[in-house]
Amino acid sequence: MAERFEALVLHQEDGRTVPRLESLSTDALPEGEVLLEVLCSTLNYKDALAITGAGKIVRSFPFVPGIDLVGRVVASSDPAWRPGELVLVTGWGMGERHWGGLAQKARLPAAWLQRLPEAMTPRRAMAIGTAGFTAMLCVMALEREGVRPGDGEVLVTGAAGGVGSIAVMLLARAGYRVVASTGKAESGPLLRELGAEQIVDRKSVAEPGAGPLASARWAGAVDTVGGPVLSGLLKAMRYRGTVAACGNAGGVELHTTVFPFILRGVRLIGIDSALAPMAEREAAWARLARDLDPDKLDRLTSVIGLEEVAAIAPRFLEGKVAGRIVVRIDPNA
Ligand SMILES: NC(=O)c1ccc[n+]([C@@H]2O[C@H](COP(=O)([O-])OP(=O)(O)OC[C@H]3O[C@@H](n4cnc5c(N)ncnc54)[C@H](OP(=O)(O)O)[C@@H]3O)[C@@H](O)[C@H]2O)c1
Repeated sequence: MAERFEALVLHQEDGRTVPRLESLSTDALPEGEVLLEVLCSTLNYKDALAITGAGKIVRSFPFVPGIDLVGRVVASSDPAWRPGELVLVTGWGMGERHWGGLAQKARLPAAWLQRLPEAMTPRRAMAIGTAGFTAMLCVMALEREGVRPGDGEVLVTGAAGGVGSIAVMLLARAGYRVVASTGKAESGPLLRELGAEQIVDRKSVAEPGAGPLASARWAGAVDTVGGPVLSGLLKAMRYRGTVAACGNAGGVELHTTVFPFILRGVRLIGIDSALAPMAEREAAWARLARDLDPDKLDRLTSVIGLEEVAAIAPRFLEGKVAGRIVVRIDPNA
């Protein structure tokens, strides 16, 4: 029987994206084998692009955004999932092409679900969310490319943001010497608590010198910013250093030369979390559950209600958000 639920719904009006809290019927949900009661969701940079309409993330309206959720199975036509089980979903086009997690109910393909890691609460899982999962994929890429803790300093750009702050924690925990690049001087003390040895201003990373190469400093880098920051850090990579590039908060263009690649053997590795295969997800989330200090994670997380989402989303695009934002959908979660 159809039930009613609250959702953040995006509409397109006079060429603008307009978010509104609405009551919907479960009949309106898109197709999928599993009906979920959503407990928590998050706000990521991509959600902000979708909710404000600043990025062409959503193409059909009305639409429910939200690229992450933790939910409880209500009903499933796929025997892999039973009512009452707690599940985690990030990416797969949820919140982009398929209605997402910023609602009390969601209906999804069974193949997108993974079990909530044991001993992880819904709220902590969403404090990690796509941002933390992406940070983990970046760290795993550096490891795979042979960047070792003794090799020298590893840079994290956009360090005060969601992906950046969790990357700082994960790299420090793995024994790397972490340097955090940020435009927010006030975030320095927290970044040090999370494990950064040094804080540098993002301008100094973007402009390490006028030539095609600068003095070699970074053994590895996690870049969440792109644009001039990525161009600058490429110039300052050490011999055979690796950059894991996942973001574009500072620009989508990349102006560089071939010299970092052909003279220093620098590797530029692209990271995508949305369509990462399930085996990689399971491995990454098992490590996130093991390696992240829950108290530190709590310190960089704020919790908001669904009714606050529309007002907060534009702050991401102004670069004003620090840390992670969890959206509590079920008041008891
Ligand atoms: N590839 C993937 O699968 C994937 C997954 C998740 C996220 N992402 C991308 O990764 C990026 C970070 O996501 P997030 O959720 O962590 O966002 P976020 O919390 O908004 O963090 C982005 C950070 O980038 C820095 N920044 C913002 N505007 C900037 C500008 N104009 N110039 C230079 N730096 C700027 C700021 O850090 P400071 O103030 O510390 O400099 C900001 O906190 C986004 O571009 C997002 O789309 C990609």
